[in-house]
Amino acid sequence: MSHHDAIPAPRRHSRADQLIQQFDTVLRTLVPHAAQPSRPSPAGDTRDDEISDEERQHAAGLMRINHTGEVCAQALYQGQGFTARLPEIRHQMELAAQEEVDHLAWCDARLVELDANTSLLNPLFYMTSFALGAAAGAINDKVSLGFVAATEELVGEHLSAHQQTLPQGDQRSRAVLRQMEIDEAHHEQWALEAGGHRFPAPLKSAMRLMSKVMTASVYRV
Ligand SMILES: [Fe+2]
Ligand SMILES: [Fe+2]
Repeated sequence: MSHHDAIPAPRRHSRADQLIQQFDTVLRTLVPHAAQPSRPSPAGDTRDDEISDEERQHAAGLMRINHTGEVCAQALYQGQGFTARLPEIRHQMELAAQEEVDHLAWCDARLVELDANTSLLNPLFYMTSFALGAAAGAINDKVSLGFVAATEELVGEHLSAHQQTLPQGDQRSRAVLRQMEIDEAHHEQWALEAGGHRFPAPLKSAMRLMSKVMTASVYRV
């Protein structure tokens, strides 16, 4: 196996490199239209049926919530990356984070189509989620992964409910949410398989309460 000696070890990123990379992620998440998806939007060439102005506003409110959810997901993964050890599953975490970037970009693109903005409150939710992710990561990896699993479960509930309450004619948003729901179920599953601690019901209720604050505010702004 001596030929392995010839392969240089992967370059260790310096602290400065890491900070620049972290800052880049923050900007790509918070600056509208900056996220680059790796998969095309599932909306593809799906056509909407008739949507009234009122329905369009409702759809925009729901898609804004989903977009902010993805902002929180980015912040959560980033916060965990800051404090968690997670050596074996870091690669899987990065894959999931890339899928969250897709979700972020798809929701952003759909909001543009609906002639609506992303939420002004995103920096606030980004900071909160970053802090929670970093705190969970600092406790241990089981809690950190458990937090991912519980979050994905909650997001899955929203996605499924939103597909029901989207305006009938909004086929393009629906196509996006359908694929997101599939992806989030995978994220939940691997977080549990990787050893994530199943959060007890009271903790999940607290998370549900927090998400209610988020959804109620972001639906409007
Ligand atoms: Fe997502
Ligand atoms: Fe996810």
